[in-house]
Amino acid sequence: MKNFINISDISKKELRLIIDNAKLRKENRANLKKNSIDADAPLEGKILIMIFEKPSTRTRISFDLAVKQLGGKSLILNPNDIHYGIGNESLHDTAKILSQYADIVMLRTDAHKKVEDFSKYLNIPIINGLTDLSHPCQIMSDIMTFEELKGPIKNKKIVCLGDGNNVVYSLIEAAVQFDFELRIACPKGFEPSKDILQWAKKNKGNISVTKDPIDAVSSADCVITDKWISMSDKINKKKKKKMLKPYQVNNKIMKKANKDSIFMHCLPASRGEEVTNEVIDGKQSAVWLEALNRIHVQKSIIEWCLNN
Ligand code: CP
Ligand code: NVA
Repeated sequence: MKNFINISDISKKELRLIIDNAKLRKENRANLKKNSIDADAPLEGKILIMIFEKPSTRTRISFDLAVKQLGGKSLILNPNDIHYGIGNESLHDTAKILSQYADIVMLRTDAHKKVEDFSKYLNIPIINGLTDLSHPCQIMSDIMTFEELKGPIKNKKIVCLGDGNNVVYSLIEAAVQFDFELRIACPKGFEPSKDILQWAKKNKGNISVTKDPIDAVSSADCVITDKWISMSDKINKKKKKKMLKPYQVNNKIMKKANKDSIFMHCLPASRGEEVTNEVIDGKQSAVWLEALNRIHVQKSIIEWCLNN
């Protein structure tokens, strides 16, 4: 069974195939309408079930469109309307049932362990649609987007400012697997987890963490940030925002990066906090393409999961 849970679980070769197939599928349907089906319709007769235990705009719509374009169907389950979500049924039993009704599952949830536990009980593949720990589909779209605009990401310098959250976790895994340099700037107490940094070091990743945002962005090919307060954050939000203020991506920061660098953000954004309007709406911003490419990369992820 091929699950898409952690970028670190998948070989460099397979990850490259996923990105290249996404690019090819995007090119091949350049003249098709948004809801038209790809000529080969590889998902004909197949169903994706999606469960969202947290809000979502992009992941929800892009997965739905991805499945439709591949010729399949998707079904979105609201946790409040299903037995597992309201605690009437175990994860184990729900997984057995979904395995009979569907061909593949996508789960957005809080605890990463829930996706891993679910995968043990399912007889069909599962895709991680964001957990408190990671957001691999987003980072695959970021890789595709970077390469579409700037060419191969290998040996390029990507700089991430702000909170060391789930997006950064997946970015660290990707830096190792796609061989790019990653520099992370964050205040004390908001660094990425030690475990993932140790894994990256063991796997010869070119990754460094600093407190200095200005120094970090020097000669960056891409500057990335994300919301300072993630969906699961229960900490003192006011204090966290104050500490992260110097890490805001604004024109002053972008001027220190390479002239032809791009800006990325997974969205949703808190404009005026982690990023200013002039940067997110500016010429270097790639945020809309990142969101669009979620469709194309997720088509490729689904195909990869279903091809044994
Ligand atoms: N970037 C992203 O995953 O967006 P949503 O929360 O809207 O799905
Ligand atoms: N770090 C953010 C990402 C949203 C797509 C969150 O977890 O809320």
